[in-house]
Amino acid sequence: MTILSIETSCDETAVSIVSTDGNFPHATYSILGNALFSQVDIHREYGGVFPAVAKREHARTLVPMLEKALAEASSLTEETQIFTQEQQEQLTTLLHREPGLAELLITFLESHTKPPIDLIAVTSGPGLEPALWVGINFARALSYFWDVPVVPVNHMEGHILSSIFNGDSLPDISFPALALLISGGHTELVHMASWNTYKCIGETRDDAVGEAFDKVARMLGLPYPGGPEIGNLARKARKENFPRFVELPRPMIDSPNFDFSFSGLKTAVRYAIQDKTLTDTERASVAQEFEDAVTEVLLKKAERAIREHGINTLIVGGGVSANTYIREQFALHFSKEYPEVTVYFPPYHLSTDNSVMIALAGYAHAKNALTYMQFSEIKADGNLSIDNLKKPR
Ligand code: KG4
Ligand code: ZN
Repeated sequence: MTILSIETSCDETAVSIVSTDGNFPHATYSILGNALFSQVDIHREYGGVFPAVAKREHARTLVPMLEKALAEASSLTEETQIFTQEQQEQLTTLLHREPGLAELLITFLESHTKPPIDLIAVTSGPGLEPALWVGINFARALSYFWDVPVVPVNHMEGHILSSIFNGDSLPDISFPALALLISGGHTELVHMASWNTYKCIGETRDDAVGEAFDKVARMLGLPYPGGPEIGNLARKARKENFPRFVELPRPMIDSPNFDFSFSGLKTAVRYAIQDKTLTDTERASVAQEFEDAVTEVLLKKAERAIREHGINTLIVGGGVSANTYIREQFALHFSKEYPEVTVYFPPYHLSTDNSVMIALAGYAHAKNALTYMQFSEIKADGNLSIDNLKKPR
């Protein structure tokens, strides 16, 4: 089966073509085409992701990404297509909320034949709803025009599967597994009793960990996205042994549950640096202490969940899992203290948002694919939960 996957939940516009062989979870996957446009340079001006801008950029770049992914997959065949009046009207109606996208897509479809695609997988949540809608409406238009079924995908399940993806297959993991999902919008501990059986056992009560990285970076005068910037400064501070400038709290580290809170940590940074002009050494030291605090909390909470739930596999995913210090500390700690637990981190290029992960999660639910008419009922759900993969309505 060949899958066309689409990701537009935040500030990456991504389209992939992935062919699969065998049944989930024992299938093999070939990434035939993979195109991604990151909007970070555009959002940097605003200091964070601006939903209306994200929506406009998705509408502008989806068709070029589709074209790029198909070309890479050698599935781009130029040939003039004759549209019926009805098709023209239907496509315009389907995309009327996405200015510019209808014209771009119609021009593309008029000059290319249908590629060999069996399924479209698209993120339906969680994420920024205006951004999600662009991908959903785009998938809907392609589904209508090419008569291909669509499967709505939970973005967080995508992060989980991309964390264990080894390039061409998913390993046989031992259950129960625990996923620690750390991204710009989420901080969750998810219990997996088996494939496709998810239960969120803890989450942040305020800011997501990536959001805290981004906000603290901003306070330190670093550009968006702040995660990698903080990581670089913290590494320098550790390497050069900079003196500690501030001591930050480890919020909820000993609370008897699996929840998190990062807004107090962010506020503690604000108080520590306000009215001061920091030297480069001091800034790097703040970055280090912040990264230490976050890492300790994540590690302690994951450890508690592993102990209390008899976990055999730990899967860390989401954009913040690209952080090298968190990776090192987790590898070090769990190999020493819990050698029986297998720990997975995603390959670096699949840590932050991408569409390969949407193809992986789409294939896991290929049996639930919807026809064009059924898919027309699907709505973007910014807060879509991973619990038992509740379907968006
Ligand atoms: O998963 P993702 O790409 O998007 C969401 O679904 O939110 O995660 C983006 C987040 C941003 O907050 C970014 O600062 C953070 O991941 N991030 C990092 C690193 N790379 C990206 N945080 C810490 N260290 C990194 N190396
Ligand atoms: Zn994400």
